[in-house]
Amino acid sequence: MSDKHQAASPSAAASQMWGGRFAGGPAAIMQRINASIDFDRRLYAQDIRGSKAHCRMLVRQNIILPEDGETILAGLDAVLAEIDAGNFPFRTELEDIHMNVEARLAEIVGEAAGRLHTARSRNDQVATDFRLWVRDAMDGMDAALQGLQAALIERALQHAATVMPGFTHLQAAQPVTFGHHLLAYVEMVGRDRGRLADARRRLNESPLGSAALAGTSFPIDRHSTATELGFERPMANSLDGVSDRDFALEFMAACAIAAVHLSRLAEELVIWTSAQFRFVTLSDAFTTGSSIMPQKRNPDAAELIRAKTGRVIGDLTALLVVMKGLPLAYSKDMQDDKEPTFEAADTMELAIAAMTGMVWDLTVNESVMKAAAGAGFTTATDIADWCVRALKMPFRRAHHVAGSLVKLAEDKGCGLEDLTLDEMRTVEPGLTAEALAVLTVDSSVDSRTSFGGTAPARVREAALAARARFL
Ligand code: ARG
Repeated sequence: MSDKHQAASPSAAASQMWGGRFAGGPAAIMQRINASIDFDRRLYAQDIRGSKAHCRMLVRQNIILPEDGETILAGLDAVLAEIDAGNFPFRTELEDIHMNVEARLAEIVGEAAGRLHTARSRNDQVATDFRLWVRDAMDGMDAALQGLQAALIERALQHAATVMPGFTHLQAAQPVTFGHHLLAYVEMVGRDRGRLADARRRLNESPLGSAALAGTSFPIDRHSTATELGFERPMANSLDGVSDRDFALEFMAACAIAAVHLSRLAEELVIWTSAQFRFVTLSDAFTTGSSIMPQKRNPDAAELIRAKTGRVIGDLTALLVVMKGLPLAYSKDMQDDKEPTFEAADTMELAIAAMTGMVWDLTVNESVMKAAAGAGFTTATDIADWCVRALKMPFRRAHHVAGSLVKLAEDKGCGLEDLTLDEMRTVEPGLTAEALAVLTVDSSVDSRTSFGGTAPARVREAALAARARFL
């Protein structure tokens, strides 16, 4: 036997789980590529929960004896306690979490352990464990996103009347309020939570009892295990039960979209905290200094959120590609579902927490924002609207008038509000002192009272409504 085909270890020869047919053990490299215990150990609580439900059902259905059932349940609790306490002897040669738990159960309770796997396969076991895990991850992410919404809504209430430039093309467009801007993210996050809730509904069916792929000849009760594990119902088709991972894909798709939303706010924080903008300041708690440039206060957390979005998108892509073209039912390819899913969940947990921290932390530089809100002729639309309202002009003509006023101010090197009435009348004789009043940023935002608009009164209402809808 050449070196590279060396058996992994003497103890790995002929696995105790399928030893009947296997005389030799796996090559070391086979064990390395095959073993998932280094990552799927994260499923241990779900694995034991699923096994306990399965065991109780086997007893109820008279498939195993009550005394064996009791022994197995007590043993599973002992295994759980060992893993929780951090003194469980994980063994790579036992491949995955399912076989690690079962082998340890056999060490603790003996012969009875061998009855637990009746009417079950690792294929429906892993599908069950993973669904339970992803469901927990969805619930955790939903709570975290709700926390982010709480921060955004409170800050929006504080800044319902704080004026800033609203942008299109990153060019100052029209004045808006900072509260309004933050509430835009509250809506996005609300839809992110909606996507998780939708995906959760579809996820929430039990694959347990699908067995290897075809179901089982034992008189199992899949409805009762589904109920015990908090699922709505058993999955209708055993082949589907063991072979789809669309629930993980949907979870990661929801993560990816939520991450894209976070990346946009992160990017805005990077822009707003720059020396050129100075709209917002982050405290020492959420910035880092430079080892060479003493003036620097870098928004690293925001930059990293922006960056980590790429990972989450990559995680979704990775599993999409794993699943693409896989024939039914289970293939080992599907063991590669876990790492991307875990990474997406972990990344989202970190990114949402950091974003929530920054939203609470940030200080708004109101005077800087307000000055910027008026720069770049952002109230030009207001004067056009005034011409439409007061002079009954068609909007297209009013747009032309406002454009000429902007040109006048531009030529003079001043703002629209700095033009005198006489100067303005050279463009449109119908303009009055009332027209001047609409040129301030405050009157501009105050006037945008349409539903969903930026008027401070509307923003306050919207923030309170968001509280009721989301918190
Ligand atoms: N560790 C495996 C996985 O995560 C468990 C299922 C193994 N099933 C099998 N037929 N080899 O996919």
